Amino acid sequence: GNTITILGVESSCDDTAAAVVRDSGGRAEILSSVVYGQTGLHAPFGGVVPEIAARAHAEKIDLCVEEALKTAGLSLDSLDAIAVTAGPGLIGGVIAGVMCAKGLAAGSGLPLLGINHLAGHALTPRLTDALDFPYLMLLVSGGHCQFVIVEGPNSFSRLGGTIDDAPGEAFDKTAKLLGLPQPGGPSVESAALGGDPARFDFPRPLLDRPGCDMSFSGLKTALLRARNAVVAEKGGLTEQDRADLAAGFQAAVADVLAEKSRRAISEYIALAPAQPVLAVAGGVAANQTIRGILETVCTNAAVHFVAPPLALCTDNAAMIAWAGIEHFRLGLVDEAELVARPRWPL
Ligand code: KG4
Ligand code: ZN
Repeated sequence: GNTITILGVESSCDDTAAAVVRDSGGRAEILSSVVYGQTGLHAPFGGVVPEIAARAHAEKIDLCVEEALKTAGLSLDSLDAIAVTAGPGLIGGVIAGVMCAKGLAAGSGLPLLGINHLAGHALTPRLTDALDFPYLMLLVSGGHCQFVIVEGPNSFSRLGGTIDDAPGEAFDKTAKLLGLPQPGGPSVESAALGGDPARFDFPRPLLDRPGCDMSFSGLKTALLRARNAVVAEKGGLTEQDRADLAAGFQAAVADVLAEKSRRAISEYIALAPAQPVLAVAGGVAANQTIRGILETVCTNAAVHFVAPPLALCTDNAAMIAWAGIEHFRLGLVDEAELVARPRWPL
């Protein structure tokens, strides 16, 4: 009938994930969502190591799929299709997922859908909040940072994005420079709680240029310089120095995202959407200061602010299964020639 059940598989960065999502004509339900994080494996290196990631994905992915099916109480033959992240991402990991999904599809005769990881993030607000097209999306994580108008399951307009680092990456590097634990986002956020954001002068890159492009690598350099100046003067960092540096850095990121969001919103509003919405996804959207400033921007622009629950904002396979459902309804099925793509813009 109208009910579609899809297994999603995700392995493009440092999370191995599988999930089963069912859509009964407009009512979607996550039957299972299993995520094996690799943070512990990469922590000693201060960033994701592609070879370690690929190996861990290959090791865990079958188990992850098995667990997702078991939790959903389903076997492969009760599914309608298999959806897998086919890029963009670390190629070794993407290949591990694609091989696994191809094997399952070949063995079961189920159709296979190759999903763009970014489309997975961008369509998540339709899984959680049943949003109508078009809505404005800000993807902001350790790997991505871009504004996209989501016009349909396979139709996206990119308004702009980072020209260098993603903000999550900058948070992670900031944590490393301040001697705080990884992942950096949460530890910088808590260090910033007692800090004075105005003590150090951080730049707001690219605000003088029109458009929605952003840059975060200069902030990292500014942080390094400010930290080194304090260390040179006092021989080390006090708790207060750390708090002030963290707060200054975080405020700069928040200001840049806020101003660029204002611009993205005005481009989006020009399309005259019936119910204007800005939705966010990505780990950085968990940051309370950033979330707060974006909510204010939205309130002032009479735009509804939507933030899916954090477990669906960060990398997961339910978003891939859901994107699979949206594509399946449009008949966008890939067959065995599906290939893993390290780069794949929306
Ligand atoms: O979406 P995500 O789990 O993975 C991808 O990068 O795709 O995002 C992880 C990133 C990390 O860089 C992490 O430091 C950052 O999101 N992050 C945060 C916060 N929580 C996680 N950044 C700022 N504030 C947070 N509270
Ligand atoms: Zn992601």
